[in-house]
Amino acid sequence: MCGIVGYVGPEEAGPILLQGLKRLEYRGYDSAGIALLNGSGVQVVKRSGKLSSLEQAVQEDSPSGTCGIAHTRWATHGAPNQPNAHPHTSSQGDIALVHNGIIENANDIRTQLSAIGYVFTSETDTEAVVHLIDRLWVEGEPLEDVVAAALRRVEGAYGIAVVSSRDPGKIVIARNGSPLLIGVGKNGETLAGSDAAAVIALTRDVVYLDDGDYAVLDMDGYRIKDIHGAQVSRTTHEVTWDLEAIEKGGYEHFMLKEIFEQPSSLRDVMRGRLMEEDGDSRLGGIAHHQPNLSRVRRVVITACGTSWHAALLGEYMIEELARIPVEVEYASEFRYRNPVLEDGTLVLAISQSGETADTLAALREAKHRGISTMGVVNVVGSTIARETDYGIYLHAGPEIGVASTKAFTSQLVALALVTLNIGRRRHLSVVQGGGIVRALKELPDQVEKVLELDSQIRSLAEAYADARNFLYLGRGLQFPVALEGALKLKEVSYIHAEGYPAAEMKHGPIALIDEDMPVVVLAPRDAVYQKVVSSIEEVKARRGRIIAVVTDEASELDGKVDHIIRVPQTIALLQPILTTVPLQLLAYHMAMIRGADVDQPRNLAKSVTVE
Ligand code: M6R
Repeated sequence: MCGIVGYVGPEEAGPILLQGLKRLEYRGYDSAGIALLNGSGVQVVKRSGKLSSLEQAVQEDSPSGTCGIAHTRWATHGAPNQPNAHPHTSSQGDIALVHNGIIENANDIRTQLSAIGYVFTSETDTEAVVHLIDRLWVEGEPLEDVVAAALRRVEGAYGIAVVSSRDPGKIVIARNGSPLLIGVGKNGETLAGSDAAAVIALTRDVVYLDDGDYAVLDMDGYRIKDIHGAQVSRTTHEVTWDLEAIEKGGYEHFMLKEIFEQPSSLRDVMRGRLMEEDGDSRLGGIAHHQPNLSRVRRVVITACGTSWHAALLGEYMIEELARIPVEVEYASEFRYRNPVLEDGTLVLAISQSGETADTLAALREAKHRGISTMGVVNVVGSTIARETDYGIYLHAGPEIGVASTKAFTSQLVALALVTLNIGRRRHLSVVQGGGIVRALKELPDQVEKVLELDSQIRSLAEAYADARNFLYLGRGLQFPVALEGALKLKEVSYIHAEGYPAAEMKHGPIALIDEDMPVVVLAPRDAVYQKVVSSIEEVKARRGRIIAVVTDEASELDGKVDHIIRVPQTIALLQPILTTVPLQLLAYHMAMIRGADVDQPRNLAKSVTVE
């Protein structure tokens, strides 16, 4: 949510900053801007709309300088127009600042500064901080000291980067609640980024700031201080993925690329972790925490969006195989309740980005109460990964498409691996465990088979592209799949869609069904198959149009439903992976046919780092 990039070094900063912004655009695309320091001061160029508008403006204005900051915005305070675009500057234009997060006392600061003559030109909370820095600056003081002084008066969440012609040749960055890292260059350059994608073209060595840290970046490197002003050292991490991973690689969209990457992302999440003979999983991230895990009496899984759907499936897995009671909580609700978290509870946070503000807040609340925490996270080194007591990574590689696809299926496999691990130390037999391991091993090839249905699903999308509503029905383990299918369709194609437990349909949604209502029914051969067939009959009786996702080669549904999507059969606990993939493709093709911007759907951003 909002992207920040900074560069100080021997090269012209403009092209490097724009390249960084391009890789961060998935974090927000309402407006973008850059500020460069040069001999004549701070030069700012910003535009509303996508990055391409800024690129054009930069070409026309040709700003120059070897030290600068840049930003791509997902609007929180103020409309997505040019005055509200970052960087924001002091009245004399000699300080420029970019910000990710929300300054909660911005109105108070604004009122105080307006009373003494400061003029505000935007509706943003950010502008208050830049004027505050100006107000507090005593001549001769280094930029970092005045930024630190200003931040002591600021309440809220921020990742910021500041430059000023009053103290040139440096960037000051600070973090409290919004991710920020330093890219350690090798040729006299130092970079800043809100995630590693911003800096990966120039360096793989990154240093994540902790909350309360601020840092000075210049051509000699970087210095970090903590909230108390004490110099601190933070570990350097190596980014393990390549630039290729954040490029489209011949696909029209990241979403499609990531859907098609699933056979390999599933192999990656399982690599080195399956123990077929023992019917067990080997998970380095939790191996040293077995004594803690054996004390767990209850699990609370917390997450948002697609990760929350994975959590619902995690509940089935853990209850079924490890026989531990599980509750699933929206992180955004959990954080404001007063949840009962007694001794023996494990809070499990699931997040692709590892930066989702609500999930992080829920996790911190659990930690505050002394509860042990575990993470299932994709982005290595992210805040949730660092703040959980232990956990496992998805190793799915960067997910750039705003609609989460490969992360979801990897989350399901990761949860199966965790469940196997816990279950084998409780009630799960080696034979049962072995069966799950064998089913896991077959999954990537089975997903490849599902992907072969792409053109069939595209034709289906053509037939339904004008639909105004969609209903997704599933029962048991297929109910979260119905929710996920509906979410995918909503977010990329803007068609209203609802996911419902199949049997609940008759308690209300059945009133919506007529010949204009496409209904996707998840009907793999499982324990509730016959019940789902009854729901199909009920839809059919009301002339609803049915698209059934099935596992049978041929069945009574063949003549009954309007369209059949056949996917391979696996064990019930893993079947959601194979039934989800066609729904991802359906959402993608519907969006494409309707001309929607699949990778950057309106109003959304990839990681939601504000409340
Ligand atoms: O990074 P996280 O997994 O914590 O993100 C959670 C949600 O914001 C995310 O899944 C969102 O719902 C996606 N856009 C869904 O496709």
